Formats: sequence, C-alpha cells, structure tokens
Amino acid sequence: MSTLTPLALERRCFAPGDAFRQAATLSGMAACNAVCERANNDYEGFWADLARELLSWHKPFTRTFDGSNAPFFKWFDDGLLNVSWNCLDRHLDQHGDKTAIIFESDDGQSTPISYRSLYEQVCQFANGLKKLGVEKGDRVVIYMPMTVQAVIAMQACARIGAIHSVVFGGFSAGALRDRIIDAGAKIVITANEGMRGGKTVPLKATVDEALDAGGCDSIEKVIVQKRTAGNTPMGARDIGWDELTAGLPLDCEPTWVEADHPLFILYTSGSTGKPKGIQHSSAGYLLGAANSFRWAFDYKPDDVFWCTADVGWITGHTYICYGPLAMGATQVVFEGVPTYPDASRFWSMIERHKVTTFYTAPTAIRSLIKLGADLPKQFDLSSLRLLGTVGEPINPEAWMWYYEVVGGGRCPIVDTWWQTETGSAMIAPMPGAVATKPGSCTLPLPGIMADIVDESGAPVELGNGGFLVIKRPFPSLVRTIWNDADRFRKTYFPDEFNGQYYLAGDSAHRDEDGYFWIMGRIDDVLNVSGHRLGTMEIESALVANPLVAEAAVVGKPHEVKGEAVVAFVVLKGPRPTGDAARLLAVELKNWVSHEIGKIARPDEIRFGDDLPKTRSSKIMRRLLRSIARGEEITQDTSTLVNGEVIAQLREAM
Ligand code: WT7
Repeated sequence: MSTLTPLALERRCFAPGDAFRQAATLSGMAACNAVCERANNDYEGFWADLARELLSWHKPFTRTFDGSNAPFFKWFDDGLLNVSWNCLDRHLDQHGDKTAIIFESDDGQSTPISYRSLYEQVCQFANGLKKLGVEKGDRVVIYMPMTVQAVIAMQACARIGAIHSVVFGGFSAGALRDRIIDAGAKIVITANEGMRGGKTVPLKATVDEALDAGGCDSIEKVIVQKRTAGNTPMGARDIGWDELTAGLPLDCEPTWVEADHPLFILYTSGSTGKPKGIQHSSAGYLLGAANSFRWAFDYKPDDVFWCTADVGWITGHTYICYGPLAMGATQVVFEGVPTYPDASRFWSMIERHKVTTFYTAPTAIRSLIKLGADLPKQFDLSSLRLLGTVGEPINPEAWMWYYEVVGGGRCPIVDTWWQTETGSAMIAPMPGAVATKPGSCTLPLPGIMADIVDESGAPVELGNGGFLVIKRPFPSLVRTIWNDADRFRKTYFPDEFNGQYYLAGDSAHRDEDGYFWIMGRIDDVLNVSGHRLGTMEIESALVANPLVAEAAVVGKPHEVKGEAVVAFVVLKGPRPTGDAARLLAVELKNWVSHEIGKIARPDEIRFGDDLPKTRSSKIMRRLLRSIARGEEITQDTSTLVNGEVIAQLREAM
C-alpha cells in the first residue's frame, strides 16, 4: 500500500437552498445530527428500528446483529421476509395504480407500468422459472438489455428465493462464461438482441458462444425474450419468454427466506485476474437500498426518480431494481444511451417525464458538457429538485456545470460514494442538511462509521491521506465472496487492522470540516467511465493472445472517461515499429474487447523488448504510470535490470 498525498482543497461551499431545506424530510443539521447521535449511542437499536420501519417481515426478527463469526456478520438472522413482496405486493392495496416504471425505449417510445402490472408480470415470470424447476438457492444468470424485463427477471428470482447474477450486456462471451461457471448457474435469461443508440446488440448469440465454449454444464435452459424483430435461431436448450409464461397465473406465492439468504451475486473486479462474486443478503441489503434511497435523495411519494445506470452494475441493482421499488417510488427506466438520437436526450427526457431526481455518473456529465454545454438551456428542467452523481470523483468544473446549468442553482448535488461491496450509498450529503462542496462526497450517512486510517489502523489527522475504512459492519455490507470466503476475509478485513475494519480499497482525506475527499484506489483497479476494471484482468486477456509474451496495464487521467487504459506489451517476436506497430496495436485492442468487452479496450498500446523490472523481476508499475502520463521520471531507476527499455516505452504512437 503506497503513501498518499492529498490534492489541493476546493473551498466553495453550497448550503441547501431555503426552499429545499424547508421541504426536506430531514431538514437542517440539528435534525441530521440527532439521527447520527442515535446511531452512535445505540447502533444496533438504530438499525433494528429502521428494519422494522422500512421492511415488512413475514416473521419478525428477534436478533439484530450477530458478530460471533466475524467477518461473516449476520443481521436480523432469525427473521423471514421476501424482497419482491417488499417491492411489489405491499404497495398494491393503496398504490396499485401508481406508476412504478416509465420505460423509455432506445427509439423514444415511452410506456408507463403500474405497480399492479409489474407485480403481475413478475409473478407470471416467477411461475415460469418454477416451471423450469428453479428452486430457492439456485443461481440464475441474467444477461439482458436495459429493459423492464431485466427488472422483472431480477424481481422474479427474488420472489422464489433464486439467486440472480446479472452480467452487464456489454461483457463478452468469455467474461459471461467465467461468471456462469463460477456461479454454477442453472438458467440464463437473455434477449435475442438489445437496442442501443439505434444499433442492435447481439445477446443471445453471445450466450450461445459462451455456452458452446464448454464448461457450463450446470446450465439447463436459456430463456430468450424477443426484444427486436431480428431473427435469432433457437436451439434445444432455448425457450422463448412468452412461450414460457403463456397462460401462467398472474400471482405467485412468495418464498419466504431467511434475512441473510443470498439475494444476488454481482461480479466485480479486484486485484487478481479473477472477478469476485460479491454476495449480498436479502434483508440487510434491501434495508440499505431503501433507506439510503429515501435519505440521500430526500425521497417524496410524488417524485419522478431517474437513475441512468445499467442493471448490470450495482447502481442499477440498488437504485433501479430494489431501492425505489421498495419505497413505492415512480422511476424512469431508460434503454438507450445519452447521445442518441443526439446529446440532448437526457435533457429532453427530464422535460418530458418531469423528472424530479436525476442520478448519473461524472463521466456522462463530462461527455455531455463536451457535446453541448448549452443544450440543457433549450429544455424546461424546472421539475428537477435534486441531482446525484456516483462512480468516481467528480471534478469541480463538471460539478459547477451540473449545479448551475442543469440544476439552475437550486438543486443540491448529492455525490454518493459507495461500492458494489457496500450495497448502498455510504458517504453522501443528507441533502436537506449538509452543505456541499464541489468534488467532495461530504459526510457519512447516519449509521455509517467511516474513517480514514494509516497502515496500523490508527486514524490520520485531518488533511492527511490514508485508507478509507468503515469501522462497524452495517446491514447492506457484502456477506462473502461467492466460493471464496478466504479471499473475502483477506481482501476486506485484513489482519493489519485486526480484522475489525472493512477496508474499502480507496484512499481519501478529510478537510477541516471533516468532509471526505476520495483520492482513488489503493489497489490495481482502474475506474474507466465509472466502471471498475482490474489491470490483471486486462493483462491476462492480452497474454492470452498467441503473439503476446508479457503485458502490464496502468491507468492515466482521461478528460471524459476519468481514467484511460494504457497497456505495455512485449511480443514473443521482435518489437514492431511504425505502421506494423500501429496495426498490431489495433488488433490487440480489438482482442481485449472480444475477450472482456468494449469497456476494457485499451486506449493505448506501447511495445517494448521488455518491461522495466527490478532484480527480483518485479515490474515497476509506478514507473510505467509515469511513462504513460508522459511525466518526467523521478523514480530511482538504478535498481532496474533493463533501464534501456524506458526509451522504447516512452515512444507513443
Ligand atoms: C469504486 C467502486 C458505487 C456504484 C458505482 C461504482 C469509486 C464510487 C464514488 C464517488 C469517488 C467513487 C471508488 C469505489 N467511486 N463512487 N462518489 N466519488 N469515487 O461501484 O464498481 O464497485 O466501484 O468506485 O473508487 O471504490 P464499483
């Protein structure tokens, strides 16, 4: 773990406007502090009260927390509930006609779906899964476009206690296959094709490629939704969504599950080449999703919420599929991309659907500034009352533009720091209370004991950088890594901190007001357009190419994507130069897209006769980072055995 130096501080500060503060559910710092105090004084009682207030239990829990087998913590463990019942059934009596989802397709058609209709579709599909023999605890992989059917598939799994594992539709056949095998999935749910930016995306064909590569013996059936008119061949293991559900009942008794029964597995990148199957619970996860949704977004029943994430990522799980539905909210679900048919798509949708609460990623904001900083002014965005961001630090210029041009200076910017592992937002301003600063995620939500510590686990002084930790387990925290409890303990509860603190993997510092500023990852994980990518995964993909002997991948700052991927490659044959090098670089970039997915495609590839190594054969990554950034080399290179390759690697194409 490296030493960390904080960046310069941003001094601007924006208190919530009077109108916003007065209308907020949690209004003013005194109210906010009172909630924090309650959590500090009676931590378990605080979470138990919330679990009773926000969740409906089939059998109430009597034990709030069990830390006896740390770090495999249990919450509410003798309670029984069903997540889909909490998201659907309990709203029907009074709000069955309320719009749950306004679905806008890639081609611009919008369809409202009421809570009753969503309930019926989920139940019918759950009956379909049952018909195929899916039972409690079985794993179901979902490889879908951003459609209502993706949400229905997830909710239907939850309804029968099956564990879903959503794989982002942009991942390649190889990445999909790895996840199917690790999860031991019985079923894949997919669509024939997706639609994004006016183009079709093959999904069923990719599933076929994954399964035909062998090793996926656990798979019994592939359910295929016909999303487009495209003709997709169906084989013996395939069944159409409509064919499966035809004539099945529109209700389905929920399967009551234990609070810690796994709701889903979601794979994310870490320091090794193998993605981690982050396993989340049912009750604790849902509590985090629902509660953070109402707090961080100051949720009100007549809000129109819109989170632009894909359900393939944790943000789409928590703030599309689970949090808003658990709270009975109305939300927009969008199939397409921000730039189609043009760069005003988001602003036009906010105007047309009267969106009140808009949640997106800094990378999207930066790209939309680039494509039309004045475009929002052509739309009526007066319905907006709160704006959120997630996924990476937001640079102050983008923050100011979001605040002034999109939010008209009246909407708090809620910068939410969290992770796949934390399940729900951890550090974010309570919008009716906490003043915001451009680039800071501000303060932990009540009940989240975040801190910044040094190597020994001791708190650092304000202003100093250190490791971001959470000092007490909380309900929505990852329960384990699927199939790898040992990696779970070592990664997140390392011995350096006596196995007590959850180590987030980020570095951060705090300013004089105690505000958190996230500085970046401490491990070999890149954040490209808000997506988490392991450098080792990309390196493994590169060395899987028959031409490649060795590869090292680092990140470098990128104006829109946050970080760009730079790969240093040593070939088995001679080092190419000129046009030959350019051609081969394109070939290898395409290779990585095919091996992992477009999101991992290197922005730059450089060839050397070797990689800079120390006498103990360690690749000097810090040096490679400087080379990628075109910086002056200040590191001591005297320990290198092959200093001459530096000049080669500095040669950009
Ligand atoms: C990593 C987690 C949380 C859902 C999306 C990403 C970075 C996330 C912020 C933020 C600065 C952030 C961190 C974190 N990150 N949100 N508001 N400010 N950095 O989930 O793929 O699990 O990635 O994203 O580095 O560790 P993820």
